[in-house]
Amino acid sequence: MRKARQRAELFSHLFAGIFFMIDYCQERPEDAAHIEHLLDRAFGPGRFAKTAYRLREGVEFIPELSMVALEQDILRGSLRYWPIEIGPSRTRAILLGPLVVDPELQGQGVALRLMEMSLQKASGLGHTLVVLVGDEPYYARVGFSAAAARGLCLPGPVDRVRLLARELMPGALAGVSGMIGKAQAERRRATDLTAEQRVANL
Ligand SMILES: CC(C)(COP(=O)(O)OP(=O)(O)OC[C@H]1O[C@@H](n2cnc3c(N)ncnc32)[C@H](O)[C@@H]1OP(=O)(O)O)[C@@H](O)C(=O)NCCC(=O)NCCS
Repeated sequence: MRKARQRAELFSHLFAGIFFMIDYCQERPEDAAHIEHLLDRAFGPGRFAKTAYRLREGVEFIPELSMVALEQDILRGSLRYWPIEIGPSRTRAILLGPLVVDPELQGQGVALRLMEMSLQKASGLGHTLVVLVGDEPYYARVGFSAAAARGLCLPGPVDRVRLLARELMPGALAGVSGMIGKAQAERRRATDLTAEQRVANL
């Protein structure tokens, strides 16, 4: 009986390995069309009317943070980030999303992995603050909360409980409040900032 169970467990591990091998990597130029297709399927063309898109219009996404999940080189998931600024202090932050996973692979932890990996990278590159619009019960799994975003607002209609934030550096939100806007200044890599500029940005 015990042996049979062990054998069953071994097979299930083997099959999981064969049928579910996902590679996570930085988005490549050839992924763009597939990402649009996934997003169209998930959100429809109406997505462009969402307030979050006001912050993305005319601004390039951050390539070094934007990641894809690939199954045998087939695109199965995508997560992009955009640079934003908050309030009169124009505090720099990043906007997480859109996040999408192929319906066939949902519930396997792909989205969580995309977020964990990219947030870790963002932190390593010196980003201090992340904002998103989404469901708190889900994004709380990677540290986001509506409470953290209490002092922030968006340039358009949004359900307040869906505006979430997370500090990547403790204290990054201290004294930061106001309207979230597109990154105005020419985007510079966080890694290009001097230590002094990073402190000033807090
Ligand atoms: C939301 C989405 C990206 C999650 O991708 P995923 O790879 O299936 O997510 P994960 O496997 O990492 O996590 C799945 C878990 O999150 C939960 N979850 C997913 N969406 C949720 C939501 N909106 N609110 C609360 N929980 C949610 C699932 O029930 C599941 O729970 P379990 O672990 O207890 O079984 C995916 O469902 C998707 O692409 N949806 C359509 C697009 C979308 O809504 N994007 C987010 C916009 S804010």
